[in-house]
Amino acid sequence: MRTQLSFTPLSEIETELLAVLAADTQTSKSSDAKPEPALLTADAAVLAAAKAVLASGEFQAGANETMLLHAPAGLAAKRLLMVGLGKQAKVTTHSVRSAAGTAVRFIKPRGIREIVFGLPEGDSQTFPHAASVRAAVEGAFVGDFDSDTYRSDRKDQSTHSFTLAAPAAADKAALQAAVAEAIIIGESQNFTRSLVNEPGNKLTPTILGQRAAEMASEVGLGWEVHSTEKLRELKMGAFWSVSQGSAEPPALIVLRYEPKGVTDGPVLGLVGKGITFDSGGISIKPADKMEEMKTDMSGGAAMLGAMRAIALLKPKVRVLCVVCAAENMPSGTAQKPGDVQTAMPFTADKPGKTIEIINTDAEGRLVLADGLTYARQLGATHLIDAATLTGACVVALGHVNAGAFSNDDETFAKFNAALAVSGEKFWRLPLGEEYAEMIKSDIGDIKNTGGRWGGAITAAEFLKVFVEDTPWIHLDIAGLAWSEDSKPYIAKGPSGVAVRSILEWVRSF
Ligand code: BES
Ligand code: MN
Ligand code: ZN
Repeated sequence: MRTQLSFTPLSEIETELLAVLAADTQTSKSSDAKPEPALLTADAAVLAAAKAVLASGEFQAGANETMLLHAPAGLAAKRLLMVGLGKQAKVTTHSVRSAAGTAVRFIKPRGIREIVFGLPEGDSQTFPHAASVRAAVEGAFVGDFDSDTYRSDRKDQSTHSFTLAAPAAADKAALQAAVAEAIIIGESQNFTRSLVNEPGNKLTPTILGQRAAEMASEVGLGWEVHSTEKLRELKMGAFWSVSQGSAEPPALIVLRYEPKGVTDGPVLGLVGKGITFDSGGISIKPADKMEEMKTDMSGGAAMLGAMRAIALLKPKVRVLCVVCAAENMPSGTAQKPGDVQTAMPFTADKPGKTIEIINTDAEGRLVLADGLTYARQLGATHLIDAATLTGACVVALGHVNAGAFSNDDETFAKFNAALAVSGEKFWRLPLGEEYAEMIKSDIGDIKNTGGRWGGAITAAEFLKVFVEDTPWIHLDIAGLAWSEDSKPYIAKGPSGVAVRSILEWVRSF
């Protein structure tokens, strides 16, 4: 998608379609108060072209509501599309992100390939120019993605050209920089989505490793991809136990971002769950919806997408990434409930912790245990992990918020600040000694499930055993990695959740 800026007045731009944002300015809460849609532009010709339809009440400027006018009088554009942002008092830059996605998804099935998107004009508090540009371009890239990769009748409906129309008085260099940044972020999120979209037979652990290596070479990251032998050498007994039942070998993916001249300060460790298919293993899952378990590498894919963006945006902090990829399958060589596994030791002189396997379907925490230990061994001073870890997290928060956990308030505060930029929704859940008690084992150190109640939390407590005192954030994205319904601004399927938030967290160091 070609992306550029224009500083020509909206009414003079020749284009297939001009999109203009609108907000509902009605402030009365009385039940008979009608919406008062207003376009967020000062262009007199655009306002005149839209006047009649705005007065008609047919378009209320609700969030992601659209209204199309053909041959708008007085405009050089062939079509005028109004996109609603919702109630003016609630509008944020994130509303602009969705609106841009909505505009792109509006034109796609209509065979329109180019769009001019008018940046919202209004008070600079709500719409700081650079932030609006960034949100709009990210939203456009995310909106342009579709998941029908393997359809023989697939029609290429991709948007060819996205132009942002900004006021002539805007700071051109700042906006150009915002465009360049947003392209990187939008493309990185889509990179993650394309990985999550792949079925288990097309994206085995080995192939995920190859895709990570290709990406890393392209953007100039250091990389290594290991398999069984390295797991043995590092004594990654927990990780290995998950892969032992599969004919597909595991992949231990390590990426390194080492900016020139940065030799001290924090080393951020990004750790991702990369289960390319989760059948549950011997504790096999029911057949209903099992196909969705091809997405069980979403946390790992999010880390790879974030690393891509990091490599291109070049923050001044060292980052390493560990993705533990395996297939969780039942077979004659699979691990069994009751088995005891020994996790990777942090130092050679201390033994690894022993884990009683209660349920082979609680495999994510097993691969992450060794991944977190390895990231610490490689020098990570701060950890963040992402995983489609528990159904319990989906029960708790639905498909609206992802779960977040942390053992360090200061580190988590940075993540919260990152959310304000990314526009993503995470909700912090508690940790605590009482929960840790629930995963004590009689035969070994800990067991891999803590029973039915508080399942997202006991899973987080399991991971906490392996991060020890390292400041750490755990993201449980089980409910948000895959969307069953399409929204006006994003296709159904893989969401790419967490990429933007992890990136902003990294950039805050
Ligand atoms: N990958 C699943 C969690 C999951 C569920 C992801 C739904 C996406 C949507 C995970 O490996 C799993 O099976 N967790 C079990 C843990 C249980 C056995 C303690 C679960 O949540 O049921
Ligand atoms: Mn599982
Ligand atoms: Zn899983």
